[in-house]
Amino acid sequence: MPERLDAFLAHQGLGTRSEVRNLIRSGLVTVGGAVCRNQAAHLRNEAVTVRGRPVVAGPDSATLLVHKPLGLACSHDPREAPLLESLYPAPLLHLPIEPAGRLDRDTSGILICTSDGQLIHRLTNPKQAVWKRYRIGYAGKLSAHAVERCTAGLILPDEERPTLPARLELHAEGEATLHLCEGRYHQVRRMFAALGGEVLRLHRDRIGGLELPEALKTGECREMTEAEIAALFNQ
Ligand code: URA
Repeated sequence: MPERLDAFLAHQGLGTRSEVRNLIRSGLVTVGGAVCRNQAAHLRNEAVTVRGRPVVAGPDSATLLVHKPLGLACSHDPREAPLLESLYPAPLLHLPIEPAGRLDRDTSGILICTSDGQLIHRLTNPKQAVWKRYRIGYAGKLSAHAVERCTAGLILPDEERPTLPARLELHAEGEATLHLCEGRYHQVRRMFAALGGEVLRLHRDRIGGLELPEALKTGECREMTEAEIAALFNQ
């Protein structure tokens, strides 16, 4: 479907709707080789330039594998900066990319960020049971039968429904692994608090059948391959 000139420029990341309209009104935009001052002009594959530079249409969807560092917020609110979206590649900034399940500012690890709403639904809907693996460093002494309590489901403060069965593995003193197939607000930290512990370090290193690749260093992100997307559901 032909797209309006102002919408096209905004989607390509050249500014907000009002900013790109200013560019158009100022005669800085050409369509098919001629200056175009009509913000509502409909494009039909003509070449577009802004300040003499070609505007090449970017991709219309993207799915990113992100190694989230500590300190970034999964939010679009600039008051919460620094934001996860600061890691996204510039040519994809016009896309409505969202994380499939957030990680807290103080949590690191693997995140899938995508413009594909169906993929987000498949990854976050507990009915799909895509397991996420968390590596945990904690303080305190967990209650007796902590493993069995996670399997049975915990009632968290201010909630009525017990957590879905989760797999807890206790390692050396203060180290644990937790496997969850749902993603409630601060779930790992709240489950540990309910068991008498306090999470000090939290890192997610697997979603479904996909491990965080060693080559993807903290703070890096790249587009996912088809094989990686398939691996998410192959657990
Ligand atoms: N559980 C938490 O408490 N925090 C996260 O970031 C993810 C799961």
